[in-house]
Amino acid sequence: MKKLMIANWKMNKNGKECAEFLIEFKSKYSNKIDAWIASQPLYIKLIINENVKAGLQNCSEHVSGAYTGEVSSRNFKEMGGNFVLIGHSERRQFFGETSKTCQAKLQTVLRENLTAVYCVGETLSERESGQTLAIVSDQLHQGLNDLSAANEENLVIAYEPVWAIGTGKTATPGQAQEVHSSIRKILSEKFPGFGSKVRLLYGGSVKPDNVEELLAQKDIDGGLVGGASLKAKDFLALCGDK
Ligand code: 13P
Repeated sequence: MKKLMIANWKMNKNGKECAEFLIEFKSKYSNKIDAWIASQPLYIKLIINENVKAGLQNCSEHVSGAYTGEVSSRNFKEMGGNFVLIGHSERRQFFGETSKTCQAKLQTVLRENLTAVYCVGETLSERESGQTLAIVSDQLHQGLNDLSAANEENLVIAYEPVWAIGTGKTATPGQAQEVHSSIRKILSEKFPGFGSKVRLLYGGSVKPDNVEELLAQKDIDGGLVGGASLKAKDFLALCGDK
């Protein structure tokens, strides 16, 4: 399975910074690892090219209509976009998203022939009270319910422990692998035809100096990266291009 590194730029970077990043990145990127970038929708046109896939960080569960301020996955596809992050913990924490609303978005994204990257993960208090696997399992079962259009190409799962996001605290490779192996099991049961082949990404303070150890784990197929994806040099290093 080819590894996948996704840059989640969140609401960072202006147009000039996006353009400069892309010039530097494309000059050295060798495609050993798939590289995808989720920017603000404003800059999608800059990213789309033959080597790097472009993504949204969220979209509407509707494809058109009177939904002021929303972004349509259908129109994103029409503009040449490739994938959408669904259920990032910042969406769950600040914008009231639940696994149920994520399920509706996942259905729409897959129906529109885009790839969905569904994000799951526990908070610190959930981990400390021993609920990690139960929380992640619940997020998967609810979010992935009734997804008949899913396959190993158009579905990616990102495990991002909330306590490791933007904090500099990475899950140890062992902690991440434990959760990834249980995600793999759930997906294999839920989607017997292809669940074992879905790419599972780890996210939460992934950096050039810890990425190798993480990617060496059996069930970690790549990363979803915030802070360390903002500099082309660092993101290149994460993609194996030093
Ligand atoms: P950091 O890599 O900055 O911890 O962010 C992770 C993340 O939220 C990616 O979606």
